[in-house]
Amino acid sequence: LDNGLMKTPPMGWLAWERFRCDVDCEHDPKNCISENLFIDMADRLAEDGWKELGYVYVNIDDCWSSMDRDKEGRLQSDPKRFPGGIHKLARYVHDRGLKLGIYGDMGTHTCGGYPGTPLDKIKIDAQTFADWEVDMLKYDGCYSNVTEQEQGYPLMSEALNATGRPIGYSCSWPAYQGGLPPKVNYTQLGKICNLWRNYGDIQDSWDSVLNVIDWFFNNQEVLIPAAGPGRWNDPDMLLIGDFGLSMDQSRAQMALWAIMAAPLFMSNDLRTISSGARSILQNKMAITINQDPMGIQGRRIVKEKNGIEVFWRPLSSNASALVFFSRRKDMPFRYQTSLSKLNYTTGSYKAFDVFAEKTVMLKDSTDFVVSVNPSGVVMWYLSAPAKRHLRQFY
Ligand code: GLA
Repeated sequence: LDNGLMKTPPMGWLAWERFRCDVDCEHDPKNCISENLFIDMADRLAEDGWKELGYVYVNIDDCWSSMDRDKEGRLQSDPKRFPGGIHKLARYVHDRGLKLGIYGDMGTHTCGGYPGTPLDKIKIDAQTFADWEVDMLKYDGCYSNVTEQEQGYPLMSEALNATGRPIGYSCSWPAYQGGLPPKVNYTQLGKICNLWRNYGDIQDSWDSVLNVIDWFFNNQEVLIPAAGPGRWNDPDMLLIGDFGLSMDQSRAQMALWAIMAAPLFMSNDLRTISSGARSILQNKMAITINQDPMGIQGRRIVKEKNGIEVFWRPLSSNASALVFFSRRKDMPFRYQTSLSKLNYTTGSYKAFDVFAEKTVMLKDSTDFVVSVNPSGVVMWYLSAPAKRHLRQFY
């Protein structure tokens, strides 16, 4: 969507995967969906070095609203859990140099059973979000049908635009239509949304991450051309810092989300995150690769060979990224290859190992060996010409 926003994939924090629909503030005041949770996360983003790296969105997900609209028919936040209201929360977030995201649903109800924003409510709700000075909307699709979605997703895009406030627009539409053409029209999505969920919900487990990775790379020929500045495929939230992934698996998620030019929305508890998880999420080179201004989504170039796969993304300034990924479960695997086998033109390349933070010099077509941990990655940032490689694929 050409609204001047999200020229690189958006980054920030999103409540859903970690905090779900916990509305029991009486017994669980620290973790329930309330203004305090978003205030805490905004404080952490602003004070713990996240904001400077680009993590600027603080995003509310489901279960924020009251069960009833107000007398004027507008959505309102739950009065007990958000006593200050969303507008005040937006000001708090803005005062810290951050942006606020909110959640709505194009059906009669949200997936959690809260009031939806069906066709006849789109204009009024878009205006309410703009009046609250909200910066992003995730528009979900529960309790709506194909015909309603065909009208509703474009209509919300127009309604947000008509408010005059720049609001990033995340569409769950393709996820409700199987994510693939002919049901899903990625050319249209690119015109009306800044990002879109293509596939099912990520859960806090390695199995779930593998399932997401498989779907996105098995369908890469369809998905790669859909992405670009202002329009991104969204494989869903980062789980790093939660309970389901090891450190190697966390690096793998970070690396492959960077290859995919994916939005980087963490869903974790920034108040208690471990230093290990934090350093993966705050890895500058992984973020630089994710945020490359050309915005070309990367691809898998070697599919499962001895349990190893190789991924590649072309980057600006003739650079590129490579990820060696292991699906093995036994021990670190010594994978032998060369840049010419990976379709690079001959010459010398400087490879910066993103997680080991070391530089390796690679010459011509000489074989090298990388040791890849089980369910882990080695990620490289390569500087040098990759032009022929680029032409070959795009
Ligand atoms: C759907 C979405 C999730 C989350 C929940 C909230 O399942 O895909 O990301 O927003 O609804 O109920």
